[in-house]
Amino acid sequence: MNKLVEDDLKYIWHPCSQMKDYEELPPIVIDHGKGSYLYDIDGKEYIDIISSWWCNLLGHCNKDINEAVKKQLDKLEHVIFANLSHEPAIDLCRELIKVVPKGLAKFNFSDNGSASVECALKMAFQYHSQTGEPKRTRFMCLSEGYHGETIGALSVGSMDLYAKIYKPMLMETIHVQAPDCYRCPYDENRETCSCQCFEKAEAAFSRYGQETAAMIVEPLLQGSAGMRIYPALYLKKLRKLCDETGILLIVDEIATGFGRTGKMFACDHAKITPDIMCISKGLTGGYMPMAMTITTKKIYDAFYADYNEGRAFMHSHTYSGNPLGCSAALAVQKILRRDQILEHAQATGKYLHDELEERLGNHKNVGEIRHIGLINAIELIRNKDSKEPFDAKLRTGYQIYKEALKKGLLLRPLGDVLYFNPALNIDRETLDRAVDKCEDAMQTILH
Ligand SMILES: Cc1ncc(COP(=O)(O)O)c(C=O)c1O
Repeated sequence: MNKLVEDDLKYIWHPCSQMKDYEELPPIVIDHGKGSYLYDIDGKEYIDIISSWWCNLLGHCNKDINEAVKKQLDKLEHVIFANLSHEPAIDLCRELIKVVPKGLAKFNFSDNGSASVECALKMAFQYHSQTGEPKRTRFMCLSEGYHGETIGALSVGSMDLYAKIYKPMLMETIHVQAPDCYRCPYDENRETCSCQCFEKAEAAFSRYGQETAAMIVEPLLQGSAGMRIYPALYLKKLRKLCDETGILLIVDEIATGFGRTGKMFACDHAKITPDIMCISKGLTGGYMPMAMTITTKKIYDAFYADYNEGRAFMHSHTYSGNPLGCSAALAVQKILRRDQILEHAQATGKYLHDELEERLGNHKNVGEIRHIGLINAIELIRNKDSKEPFDAKLRTGYQIYKEALKKGLLLRPLGDVLYFNPALNIDRETLDRAVDKCEDAMQTILH
């Protein structure tokens, strides 16, 4: 065994992994990356079709982002962000204010997605406490939702895989049954859907409305649940209901932001502005750990007072507003605009979907291929008519993942949902190669 692999196994506890699996599939040590490709220490090439946990927005080792970070590195690597500030952070806010939903006005910096969610929950709680509604202490969320792995974020998540064991440690939150368009219990059609399932949200709001501080959702796309896509109408209705009941709407755009769904933010499909929005991942193009919790002037004003009134938001992270992260994020904004990346991704997204439908749509184990923006997800099932899933213990998605790796494709399915969520500037030739490899891996495992 290679000494690097040996010492990796000796020292490192990898994230979100059963480490015993590594006996059979040792870690692949990556040496470098270029665009949508990764290269391991033996020179083997992999297509990164999941953009490394959905954050690598514009390819690995992107020339413009590299230059921006290098330039900043020789000037200022980090500085305390309380009282002190710096040009990259200010410039970044100047740029972001042009693209975030209208009405969002204040940017609070943190360093990962979960942290930005924690920040949003605390902000919503304190807002109500300081505006005469201290009984609003609870949070609502959608079933199958995912918002990160820290205790607050896990509490508003609904996926047993991540949360079950920690239940005794978590806040008691209100879970609303999420839309499930593939297995719609109301037999609605995606194209003509009137969101009858929204009655579940209405029922929860009517029962718990007075005690709820905020509702948090992943807008339009429940990523970790298996790239479950739901209509913009649902989000529109939610905005209206929140307005009517005084419940704040927190939108977690960590996975959906920056063009992933075809528009800059998923909220833009529904033409709504949340009260609080969380962003991370694509913000820095996947270069630096950085996140933001963005809110309205109205919420900000509830914290603004003489110091001794004790209304300040006493929330911080050491690396809040890190200048290297800001410089990477600024470069991302420049590239998105200059290279018309969203338009490019829209066109490639359609190309990819047509390709997948043609090649795999009729496969006996493909339930549906759903898509939004460039994201395409293939739900594998045992029986097409009944939509019965495979026995989870078979780990079908994981078997395909291992097979695809042998062929040079980094897939990493969510259970039995294979998905493509590549860099937005990926080229068609690379997509063709990825579809070939995916089809090959599926044939090998599912024959
Ligand atoms: C929608 C959503 N929210 C929050 C998070 C957590 O972000 P992080 O892993 O940076 O803590 C993720 C990560 O996948 C996510 O997809």
